[in-house]
Amino acid sequence: MAESAISSLRAREILDSRGNPTLEVRAELSDGSWGWAAVPSGASTGKHEAVELRDGDAARFGGLGVLKAVANVNRVIAPALAGMPANDQEAVDRKLIELDGTVNKSRLGANAILGSSLAVAHAAANQMGIPLYHYLGGWDSYVIPVPMLNILNGGKHAADATDFQEFMVVPTGAESFAHALQMAAEVYHSLKSVLQGRGLNTNVGDEGGFAPSLKSNAEAVEAILSAVEKAGYQPGRDCFIALDPAASEFYQDGHYVLSREGKVLDRQEMVEYYVKWADLYPIISIEDGMAEDDWEGWQLLTEKLGERVQLVGDDLYVTSVERLTKGIELGASNSILIKLNQVGTLTATMAAVRMAQHAGWTAVVSHRSGETEDTTIADLAVGLNTGMIKAGAPCRSERTAKYNRLLRIESELAGEASFAGMKAFNNLKSRPDE
Ligand code: PGA
Ligand code: ZN
Repeated sequence: MAESAISSLRAREILDSRGNPTLEVRAELSDGSWGWAAVPSGASTGKHEAVELRDGDAARFGGLGVLKAVANVNRVIAPALAGMPANDQEAVDRKLIELDGTVNKSRLGANAILGSSLAVAHAAANQMGIPLYHYLGGWDSYVIPVPMLNILNGGKHAADATDFQEFMVVPTGAESFAHALQMAAEVYHSLKSVLQGRGLNTNVGDEGGFAPSLKSNAEAVEAILSAVEKAGYQPGRDCFIALDPAASEFYQDGHYVLSREGKVLDRQEMVEYYVKWADLYPIISIEDGMAEDDWEGWQLLTEKLGERVQLVGDDLYVTSVERLTKGIELGASNSILIKLNQVGTLTATMAAVRMAQHAGWTAVVSHRSGETEDTTIADLAVGLNTGMIKAGAPCRSERTAKYNRLLRIESELAGEASFAGMKAFNNLKSRPDE
């Protein structure tokens, strides 16, 4: 048997950062090398995502247990993968898809499939004695992504908060990743004192950002801009703002309902809202500005803002090459969010990144709101030179684990590493800092 042949896969139910069950998988190879991965979980899940298999047994974890997915790894996937070469990821992922046999991965569960796919990749990299980013991207992996840090949480990630889900700071003006992370952490702490100064709550939401009860979305942006200045940086030069309104969550009967602000907008008015914001604030990126099936709204937004603002499809594309193909044909955005568990295999995820890059778009590698200590996304971002990552606030270990992994990669690559900074936004015709 070849040294890299898969000998066993073992799954287990563990907890994620919200205290909900998820699964981890350990893959072992015939020479004793092994790899480990754990699966994240979303809250504002897109309706076109692959299925996360939950037990539905109300007697355990309120129905959220994942013992069925665990059993699918141990009893169905492990025997089928045994003997396959771990370093043929495409063949492993093809096998996983065949075993499942459904379009949306509902039989085995995208969680069971992803845990297996990633554990095998980690094992193969370990067997070869190389870091995962080099295993995934070859020797041409050297771009350290600019981080997009969600320092103010709303929507489904916080109680009694803004309609928009995420308000991020993007330290594009940094000289290195380590410097970017330092700037972001300084802004984060400065935001805490800005909020405290206004008598607002500074407890944190699911992704580590503060979750104050604000009256409007604009108030959130303004608090961040004050925090940037207070930390000694210039908005629109050193730091930009990125938003993830997660618009599918407030799209009702063909309208965008901003209940906090008492506004009900049609698609045209929603687009105008963003255009006004882009004129008013240093906004470099808007993710899910429009709802997941409002293709016309997306086209309109891209027509109006696509030259100067990165427009990222998350629920719109769900990391699927089929939906991305449609988006590229329609000119529906200029960027895609990449979440491994939306599609379920490493191969399919990498195909989506490459398709976006070939189209001249960007790909933003992303965590989920429910996370674990797994840091695969840091390696994926470097491996594929995406130039961008979003992994939450610089707070809560499941978030900082990804950023800390990037610190280690940056020093490991030493002179070869190139920090993306503003260069990452190569999808924009007019760069906002010029
Ligand atoms: P989710 O949120 O992980 O809860 O889906 C993240 C996002 O919308 O980007
Ligand atoms: Zn999103």
